[in-house]
Amino acid sequence: MNREDLWLATHNKDKVKEFYDLLGDLPFRLRLIEEFSSDYAPPEETGKTFLENALIKLQAFKKEKPGAWILAEDGGIEVDALDKRPGVYSARYYSETATWPERLKALLKEMEQVPEPLRTAHMTSVIAVGTPDQKTLQAQGVVSGSLAFSMRGHEGFAYDWLFIPNGHDQTVGELGYPLKNKFSHRYKAVEELKKKLGQYFSQQKSAVL
Ligand code: IMP
Repeated sequence: MNREDLWLATHNKDKVKEFYDLLGDLPFRLRLIEEFSSDYAPPEETGKTFLENALIKLQAFKKEKPGAWILAEDGGIEVDALDKRPGVYSARYYSETATWPERLKALLKEMEQVPEPLRTAHMTSVIAVGTPDQKTLQAQGVVSGSLAFSMRGHEGFAYDWLFIPNGHDQTVGELGYPLKNKFSHRYKAVEELKKKLGQYFSQQKSAVL
């Protein structure tokens, strides 16, 4: 099959690993930012929403590779008891330079007095794909659940060690792979993206006929 290149506009190796699994059945050859340039600096995430940040990442990489297929993603965790924080600041919560255990401990401390039924939270992934003919396809996936009282599990990354998806009593970190890639917010966003790609390709085909 003649596969087109799809550039993943992220430096996050954990996300890349998941995208390799989730996008494996699409007719694309996945390409990494590092293959393009070792010193590409990601843009500042100044958006107020996940979608704004995904589009900022897409536009920034588009300047480097106009006319390419590009996938950008933004997302994070929103905790109801914290008025949806950290949200767009998920990667920078507590301190930009903190390690993940430090960041998660700070979140646990902030949630110390919050009892089980009020520990609800939501993981969101928003994907923006730029097409060679300058269209943008958008997709979103959300998984609701709650925050554990301590870090648990060794797989996944970041908030996976605190987040218990609804219908489970283990954190995503404990549930691990391959299960995470069968229900996660990223899985759901990719499923929606696949539908949008299907529509895009059939419009392309009918324009040619
Ligand atoms: P981004 O890399 O700018 O999109 O920041 C998203 C942040 O949200 C990540 O750094 C993590 O903190 C968090 N996040 C996004 N997806 C996941 C996930 O699948 N598991 C755990 N944390 C995630």
